[in-house]
Amino acid sequence: VSLKAIAEAPCKVIITGEHFVVHGGVALAAAVDRKVRVDVGESGSLRVRSEGLGNRSGPSLRPFASVLAVMSRVYGTPSRLDIGVSSDIPSGAGLGSSAATMVALAAAVSELEGLSLGVPQIVEMAMAGERDLHGRPSGIDPNVCASGGVIRYRLGEGPSKVELQGTRSFIVAVSKQRRSTRRLVSKVSEMGGRYPSLFAALAEAATDVSSLAEERLVHGDMEGLGRLMTYNHAVLSAAGASNQVLDSLVNLLVSLGCPGAKLTGAGGGGSVLAVAPRGKEKSTIADLKRRGIEAFEAKIPVAGVKSWLSR
Ligand code: PMV
Repeated sequence: VSLKAIAEAPCKVIITGEHFVVHGGVALAAAVDRKVRVDVGESGSLRVRSEGLGNRSGPSLRPFASVLAVMSRVYGTPSRLDIGVSSDIPSGAGLGSSAATMVALAAAVSELEGLSLGVPQIVEMAMAGERDLHGRPSGIDPNVCASGGVIRYRLGEGPSKVELQGTRSFIVAVSKQRRSTRRLVSKVSEMGGRYPSLFAALAEAATDVSSLAEERLVHGDMEGLGRLMTYNHAVLSAAGASNQVLDSLVNLLVSLGCPGAKLTGAGGGGSVLAVAPRGKEKSTIADLKRRGIEAFEAKIPVAGVKSWLSR
């Protein structure tokens, strides 16, 4: 049996500041305990098998090929490998599964070839695939999937780790609406082109929200964090990232006792993130499920990407 390397990367939620982070604002993100697993083995050709989806072909191979190509150029690793992908992320959840996949791929290749790459190098390699998928991503997703934990992120400054004492509990509710991050990022950016001063004010508000949210999160003031998240949802709505389904999920979660809720990630579908009501985490999730809504509890912090060899 030939040698294989396996890597697992967690998915992520953006707690505050998405979209405006593309325009220089500060965002806060956390890794969550839903994972993508990638295995790689030597092979004469590039093959990507996705669990349940069979072999990938055509354009969906491109991000994989791009990560292998940049690693081959920088580190001399093989540009053709046999790749397997599996995950426990609900589909259409918008929880950064593409970033988690690219991070796990870079980590698995590093493991197979004995490179011992650190988090910044893995992120740099994963970004080649993220650019294929999303155009000009801010890089927040691969950074938090690789490092794990909670990060504060600003373009040009890169990530800084937010240390927590103990755990914090959130609820993720999945809208099951698929959407394109690229299309939503350009929709929100267009609003910036049309109303530059209004957009600048919203971007500044999002940065303020992220700083305040970080402080509340660190001190365990989850009521305060929730209020800021609901406010951030309104700002994202004003910028065109929400829709009726997400707005009603936010309202429902708040009416069920969550201290606050907002869309998370690009919006237009994907998921809503809420602060879990203390002591009512399980019953709230059961209530959501009875209403036909897929939801799970996300406890943070969780570890970042891990890799190992296997025969
Ligand atoms: O791909 P998503 O849904 O996780 O969104 C990424 C967050 C954005 O701020 C909307 C885009 C970016 O590149 O930061």
